Amino acid sequence: MEFSDVADDIESVVLTPEQIAEGVARIARGIEKDFPHSTPLLIGVLKGAVMVMADVARELHIPIEIDWMAVSSYGQSTQSSGVVRIVKDLDISLEGRDVIIVEDIVDSGLTLSWLLENFSSRQAATIKVAALLRKPDAMKVDVTVDYLGFDIANDFVVGFGLDYAESYRNLRGVGVLKPSVYST
Ligand code: IMP
Ligand code: MG
Repeated sequence: MEFSDVADDIESVVLTPEQIAEGVARIARGIEKDFPHSTPLLIGVLKGAVMVMADVARELHIPIEIDWMAVSSYGQSTQSSGVVRIVKDLDISLEGRDVIIVEDIVDSGLTLSWLLENFSSRQAATIKVAALLRKPDAMKVDVTVDYLGFDIANDFVVGFGLDYAESYRNLRGVGVLKPSVYST
C-alpha cells in the first residue's frame, strides 16, 4: 500500500520506503560487523516486526536463524500499558545462542526491557537489540538499541508493520496518523 492509497488518514510522512531501506541497511551492516563468525538467532516480535525482519534478514550477508515471539502490551489503544503477556513463545532454544531481538519500534521501552530480562534467564550467550524506530522522548526505561534505523518524534505512527487497530501494517512507508482517525 502506498501513501496515496491512505492519503485521507495520514497527516505527514515520517519515512519514505527509500529512507526505510537505508535504515534497514544500517541495521544489517551493524549486525554483520558484530557476528562475522557465528550464526545469530534473530527473534522478531510479532506482528509489528514482520516487515523489518523480512528486509533485514534478506539484506544480511551472513547466515542467521529466525524465530518469532508474540507478546501483548497494547490492545487497541495507542498508549503502552507496560503489561506484557506471552501470546506465542519461541520454538528454538536460546541456550548459548547469540540472540538479536528485532523490533519495529521502541516506544516506552517496557516491552523490550521485559524481553531482555526474559531472554537472559533462558541462558542466551549474548543479547542485542535491533529496531527500525525509536522514540527517545517516550522512553520510560533505559534500554540500549544496538542497531537502530531512526530516532523519530513522539507521535503515533503507522506503516511498515506498525498498526492502528490492526490496520495500516502494509503501508510501504511510515507516517503520522491523523488524530481524526482515532476518534471515529
Ligand atoms: P513499548 O512502549 O516500547 O513497550 O512498545 C510496544 C509496542 O507498541 C511496539 O512494539 C509497537 O508494536 C507498539 N507501538 C509503540 N509505538 C507505536 C506507534 O507509534 N505506532 C504503532 N504501534 C506502536
Ligand atoms: Mg501494535
